[in-house]
Amino acid sequence: MADRATSPVIMDVDTGVDDAVALALATRLSELDLIGVTTVAGNVDVEKTTDNSLRVLAMLGRSDIPVYRGMNRPLARAYHDASEFHGVSGLGDAEFPASPVAVQFETAPEFIIRAVRARPGEITLIPVAPLTNIAVALALEPELPRLIKRVVIMGGAFQCRGNATPYAEYNIWADPEAAAIVANSDLPITFIGLDVTHKAPLPKALWATLAAREGVEARMVYALARRTFIGREREEFHLHDPLAVAVTAFPDLVTTESWGVTVESGIGDQIGRTCLVKQPDVPQHQVAVAVKTDAFLARFGEALSFQ
Ligand code: RIB
Ligand code: CA
Repeated sequence: MADRATSPVIMDVDTGVDDAVALALATRLSELDLIGVTTVAGNVDVEKTTDNSLRVLAMLGRSDIPVYRGMNRPLARAYHDASEFHGVSGLGDAEFPASPVAVQFETAPEFIIRAVRARPGEITLIPVAPLTNIAVALALEPELPRLIKRVVIMGGAFQCRGNATPYAEYNIWADPEAAAIVANSDLPITFIGLDVTHKAPLPKALWATLAAREGVEARMVYALARRTFIGREREEFHLHDPLAVAVTAFPDLVTTESWGVTVESGIGDQIGRTCLVKQPDVPQHQVAVAVKTDAFLARFGEALSFQ
């Protein structure tokens, strides 16, 4: 039993390499109690994101955490994966054993709604994927904003260049209609966009030391990031999703401002663009504008026993 107050959280993932690292972090932070994982089509298809999540949790010794399969495509548009970056499997070139447990029968939106109804005001939802499941949960349970404690979303490029297009960040771009529904809702959202995640990379020098370490976490992160550093010859592995998890446990890692968020969902090259507005009819959310990178990396390394 953790000796500190632990906060119940649900992660909504499209496991993917950084989602996998975020799952590892969430299971190792004593401040958080990961009560369930929901999956969605994103980096790779929903069957792979579901299987990958099960495999990662099993590697971490946490097959007790239930996994619920979600939506297999965006609300209104064609599905576009991100396998160029995450690899065909979604786990880069890492190969993890199959999980001994299966996905749950209940769908992702059904689980989210059941969980927050049972524990009103207690649960933080951490979507680090396209927001399709969250939009569906809102449609099924309009009271969701009053039942949930906070929603910490990895998504958006507010005052910086996008990564899916020059204007848009992938999680928003992949399902802009879902993102618009979520951003225009009264959910208590904190947005963790590229503005801060691009300032929270895993440096190649630190990554290189992980291969020699004993812990399963270090070996997992080494394997998950290998494609980025070796295969794609990058110098940084962006810890997009792990930052959203870390901010849930340690909100002071980022500075936020209160803004309304609009999402471009028409046609043309600005689909998925997220804009900051101050308009009376647009709900205000917290948007991260700065990050304490060193403090984040220290918490990250400590939790995963890199230090
Ligand atoms: O833009 C980064 C986001 O897109 C991360 O959540 C990554 O996993 C991909 O889904
Ligand atoms: Ca993700």
